[in-house]
Amino acid sequence: MSLPGGPVGVFDSGVGGLTVVAEIRRRMPAQDILYFGDTARVPYGNKSPETVRRYSLEIGRFLVDQGVSFLVVACNTSSAVALDALEGAVPVPVLGMIGPGARAAAGATANGKVGMVGTRATVASGSYARAIREIRPDIEVFSRACPLFVPLVEEGWSDGPVALQVAHRYLDGLLKTGVDTLILGCTHYPVLIPVLRQVAGPGVKLISSAESAAEALNALLPAAPREEGTIGRLTCYVTDSGTHFTEIAQRILGEPLGELIAVEEERLVIP
Ligand code: DGL
Repeated sequence: MSLPGGPVGVFDSGVGGLTVVAEIRRRMPAQDILYFGDTARVPYGNKSPETVRRYSLEIGRFLVDQGVSFLVVACNTSSAVALDALEGAVPVPVLGMIGPGARAAAGATANGKVGMVGTRATVASGSYARAIREIRPDIEVFSRACPLFVPLVEEGWSDGPVALQVAHRYLDGLLKTGVDTLILGCTHYPVLIPVLRQVAGPGVKLISSAESAAEALNALLPAAPREEGTIGRLTCYVTDSGTHFTEIAQRILGEPLGELIAVEEERLVIP
């Protein structure tokens, strides 16, 4: 296992993982990051576990070939179905989203009722409920798949009446269960926080898996050896380089996008 020190590799199906990158940059500004958004094959959340596992392994190996010393699976769907496979396939440490999100939720709930929203694949995997029960078996977990949230974010429709209506449709029933904590179990969802906050109301704590994972990474990795004030390089790889990616990415990151490199899907296939 190689020691951390090089760039951190971060990947997602699309722009969602940039919510994790934004949180990492807030805490570890000097850290070099290689981001991979699988924009040609997004969304992952409606695909089979086998397909998501194959995509995740391809990207993990690609990022390792680019020299990353640590891999952050900034996709809950991949974390839910491919984390074990990735850990066995790449020679660097791997951090997924589920563990940090589950720990944060278990620590946040006062009434022992936790809601979890995510993609169909993440909900079907039951991984959040399992991870939470390992920490506190008394917690009840209520899950709801919200497949329309990802295209809303990818389209840049993260606020306004359409997003609000969709959020009510998905969340109203879940909120009736009395959850006091809601895990945003998809890295696209933090972009929707203003709308989700409006729907959930002030009594429900929102747990962003992006924030929890960035905190976990910060605790695991030594600070990049840089002069104070240096900003680490952010290089983005995408499998489809529409200009739309840049626009949404910059909105999520709150900074101009660094280098953007298109990768042909054929380069990813593992022989
Ligand atoms: N952002 C990803 C997640 O956390 C994937 C969304 C998707 O591609 O469906 O689950």
